[in-house]
Amino acid sequence: MKIHEIETPALILDKHALEKNFQEMDRLLDGSPMTLYPHYKSNKCPRIAQMQMQHGAGGITCAKLSEAEDLAEAGISTIVIANQVVQAEKLPRLAALAGRCDLTVCADDPENVLALEQAMAAASGQLRVLVEYEVGMRRCGVETPEEFLFLAQLIDAQPHLIFEGIQAYAGHLSHESDASRRKTELLDIEARIKALKAFVEQNGLPVRNVCGGSTGTAADKPLDTAYTQLQAGSYLFMDATYETLNLRFQQALFLLTTVISVKEDRVMLDGGVKSLAMDQAVPVFPALPDAEIIFSEEHTTLLARNTSLKLGDNMRCIPGHCCTTMNIHDKIYLVDGEDVVDVWAITSRGKAQ
Ligand SMILES: Cc1ncc(COP(=O)(O)O)c(C=O)c1O
Repeated sequence: MKIHEIETPALILDKHALEKNFQEMDRLLDGSPMTLYPHYKSNKCPRIAQMQMQHGAGGITCAKLSEAEDLAEAGISTIVIANQVVQAEKLPRLAALAGRCDLTVCADDPENVLALEQAMAAASGQLRVLVEYEVGMRRCGVETPEEFLFLAQLIDAQPHLIFEGIQAYAGHLSHESDASRRKTELLDIEARIKALKAFVEQNGLPVRNVCGGSTGTAADKPLDTAYTQLQAGSYLFMDATYETLNLRFQQALFLLTTVISVKEDRVMLDGGVKSLAMDQAVPVFPALPDAEIIFSEEHTTLLARNTSLKLGDNMRCIPGHCCTTMNIHDKIYLVDGEDVVDVWAITSRGKAQ
C-alpha cells in the first residue's frame, strides 16, 4: 500500500524518524542511573509499548487503570500507574490487575491508602505504592516531607501494600522554553527530592524508586540524579509544542489530510478538530507554514493564494499535541518513504477510566 492510498484524515508515523528517536533516547540514558519507563498516554498503542519493552524499557507508565488493563492484556508485565486510583468501583479491578502483573500505583492521601489495603486484602494480593510529591505543577501530591513520611509509614504498615518510593513529576517545566530557567528549576527540584529521599531513609524506610521526568526535561537531569525511572512519552513522536524547544528528537507523527476544495484565496483539507487535538500549540502545516489557519470540526481552511495544490493532493500536518491527537484515532500507519509498512491499532484511545 502507498501513502496516497490511505483514507484520510489519518495518522502516519515515519519509520526512520521513529527509529532515530528510539536511538536518541538510548543515547540520552547511556550512563544514567535512570531506566526508561515510557508514558503510555502518548501512544495508547500496545504495539508501541511492546517495542519500547524490547528496546530495554523497565516497564510502562500509564495514567489510567483502563490503560494498565490494556497493557497487561498485551503482555506488559511491569506497569506503573502514575496517578491516584480512588473510586471505590475501580479498586477490585485494580486488585485483580495486581494479580496479573507487577503493578505500582500512586497515593497522596491516607484514606486512599487504607482503601487500597482493603481491596488488596480482599484479593489476597500485593501492590506497590509510590507516594506522590508535589514539585510545582499543582496537581496531585503531598506537599511536605513530614506528610510524605507519614503516608510512607502508613503504606509500610499495611500487610498488602509495599512502599515503593517517590513519584515527583515536574510537568510545569516540560514545555518551559527558557532552557536555563528549565535547568535551574529542575536542579532545585532534584535537590529537594534528594533531601526527601534522605529524610525518608533516615527514618528507616528505603526508597527503591524515584519516578518522573518528561521528553522536555530528560536531558536536563544531572548525571547523579536521584530519579530511577524516566517517564518520558512524547519523545517517539514529537509535536508542534515540543518542536519549539529544539530537543534532540525528530518529528515522526503527522496527520495526513487530503485537499477537498481549492478556491482563489484558500485551500480546504478534510481534517479538523475531530482529527487534531487543540489543547496545546496550533497544528503546523509545513508545506504552507505562513498560511492563516481556520479550523472547524471536519475541515481545515488554509488561507493561501497560488499554492499549486489541487484536489486530491495529500498534505501533512504536525499535530499541536501528540498525546491528545493519538487519543482521537483508532489506528496509525507506519510509513517508510511512500510505502505503508504496517498498521497499528490504538486500542487504549478513549480509555480514560
Ligand atoms: C506523570 C507523567 N509523567 C511523564 C509525563 C511526560 O510526558 P511527555 O514526555 O509526553 O511530556 C507526563 C505527561 O503528562 C505525566 O503526566
